[in-house]
Amino acid sequence: MARNVFAAYNGVAHLYCYLFIRFSCMSQFEDKSSRPFEVQVAQRVVRLPPYLFGRINKLLYNKRRAGGDVIDLGMGNPSDAPEDIVVEKLAEAARDPRNHSYSKSNGIANLRREVAAKYFKQHGIRLDPEDEIITCLGSKEGFSHMCLALMGPGDTAIVPSPYFPIHVYAVALAAGNVISLEVANHDKFLSNIAQTCETLYPNPKLLILNYPHNPSTVCVEQPFYDEVVKLARRYNFMVISDFAYADVAFDGYHPPSFLASRGAKEVGVEFTTMSKGYNMAGWRIGFCSGNRKMIGALATIKGYYDYGMFQAVQIAAIVAMRDTEAAVEKQSLIYKRRRDALCQGLARIGWDVTPPQATMFCWVPIPEPWRSSMNTMDFGMLLLEKGNVAVSPGSGFGPAGEGFLRMSLVENEQRLQQAVRQINRCLRDAKAAGHGDAVAKAAVS
Ligand SMILES: Cc1ncc(COP(=O)(O)O)c(C=O)c1O
Repeated sequence: MARNVFAAYNGVAHLYCYLFIRFSCMSQFEDKSSRPFEVQVAQRVVRLPPYLFGRINKLLYNKRRAGGDVIDLGMGNPSDAPEDIVVEKLAEAARDPRNHSYSKSNGIANLRREVAAKYFKQHGIRLDPEDEIITCLGSKEGFSHMCLALMGPGDTAIVPSPYFPIHVYAVALAAGNVISLEVANHDKFLSNIAQTCETLYPNPKLLILNYPHNPSTVCVEQPFYDEVVKLARRYNFMVISDFAYADVAFDGYHPPSFLASRGAKEVGVEFTTMSKGYNMAGWRIGFCSGNRKMIGALATIKGYYDYGMFQAVQIAAIVAMRDTEAAVEKQSLIYKRRRDALCQGLARIGWDVTPPQATMFCWVPIPEPWRSSMNTMDFGMLLLEKGNVAVSPGSGFGPAGEGFLRMSLVENEQRLQQAVRQINRCLRDAKAAGHGDAVAKAAVS
């Protein structure tokens, strides 16, 4: 009897405990409010500058979805293909089961050796493939992670202005500060660097260079880099040279490498890419070469973040570098012809355009009366909306780009000539209308 009473008591006690825990947990974890769940994104994302090409890209997307034929001179996305032997090598290497495992995060030795050989052949620079070269998943990835490896809160980087957006975003993502200095005049740029170093405390830690420059297409000669190295030593800042357009130059101009200046390897590194000259943008292959310690820091970060590039891609990249030099030169010639078609066409309709010596862009001042009557973004929207031509408004590259358009040479000569005709017609109609949509109306002088 006593046992039964005890058992009953025990059962009730268990039930009570269960209900107590069940309901106290419910009150602890069940949200009775109707508030929507809020995702709290990290400050490093929140503090990124706004993406200014969003408006243009959205309109371009909608037009294309509606079946419109838009001539897209916006992004610098190569539209030609790599050489057949490169694609064939990729297919062959992809069929080899040994190439499907994780690769080395700093790249296979033979590819790094090929990069060293190219630097020596083209610029007379000796690099040790072992620890002075690392492969990257495109130079943009390498550049971004290099900023993460070098920069932190309170550190400042000097960036050329107008700027290729990642030059600013990568520093911001690494919690660093950016000072942008106008790039158009070399001497002024150099003296502004010196002045910034004299007046800013703590001194800038990093100088980012990009010649031939995207978007302004400004180019330099070797003595410019000699001066940079002297400044870097005097003020103790590191240098990253983004040499993305090393292979795309015209009229006998050979873009010099920062690393060819005496002492450059002591103060900095240089990024190169196979995206532009080799038409391998989607393959994601870039390199960082130069200072051992900086490359070591990047290798450490990459060692944590990635397992390297698909080995078949690396093997095909060796073939591209070794055997398709003539194709790279041919590609530059293709860009040169497109440059001529676009610049001559724009000049014919009265635009003041200076043909670039390098890169795959034209950096074009917006002609009057448009320049003083509407902002660059609205002008770009007008060309897209009414002329079916997409361009990159200069303000997307920072305030120094206001008043300019960047036009990519990624369409063929006929399409570029057609683009000029469409732009001309669009502006003539907008001017003649004097009314109609608000944008065109505001622009009519
Ligand atoms: C100046 C500059 N740097 C880097 C890149 C990115 O190159 P990658 O494709 O190697 O990441 C580009 C691409 O447009 C560029 O213009």
